[in-house]
Amino acid sequence: MSQQEQSAVAAVTLPKIPSWDTDTLHVGADELDYVTIAEGVEVKVVHVDLNQGIWIVFNRFHPGAKVPAHYHSGQVYAVTLEGRWSYKESPEAVNEPGSYLFEPAGCTHTIEIPQDQEGPTVVWFAVHGVNVQLQDDGELDMVVDARTMLEGYRMLLGAMGKPAPKTLVFGE
Ligand SMILES: [Fe+2]
Repeated sequence: MSQQEQSAVAAVTLPKIPSWDTDTLHVGADELDYVTIAEGVEVKVVHVDLNQGIWIVFNRFHPGAKVPAHYHSGQVYAVTLEGRWSYKESPEAVNEPGSYLFEPAGCTHTIEIPQDQEGPTVVWFAVHGVNVQLQDDGELDMVVDARTMLEGYRMLLGAMGKPAPKTLVFGE
């Protein structure tokens, strides 16, 4: 292959490297507030990537709280920081501080927090895609994605008289 041909191939196949801003982005533990989204369920939205459909949140659950059955269109990564919880469908797998959970795309489950849990249960979730929330009778309740989560968070904070959150938002 001639040098000219090699250059032509390289021009086609080499990836374009974006010029990223190399500053890291930090959100302090107390820089964002939790909002209540259901009985005993609070959320703090720390990072949303609208281009990739990713939303990263901390959930704080109170003893006895429940998140009704929901279907994930994308995969989810979860790290439990405080308390304990499990799925109604697999109560033997208890999430507790330091445990890690991977939820594959296409899974459906129901979150339950033990009634006898002392103190809140705090979990970090990185969610891809869409959550389809179901009612107890299996009917559709609502669909949540990165944008609706961000907009809902802003709305609830606004209703509390809080200023615009310092959530990291990409793609807006
Ligand atoms: Fe889930």
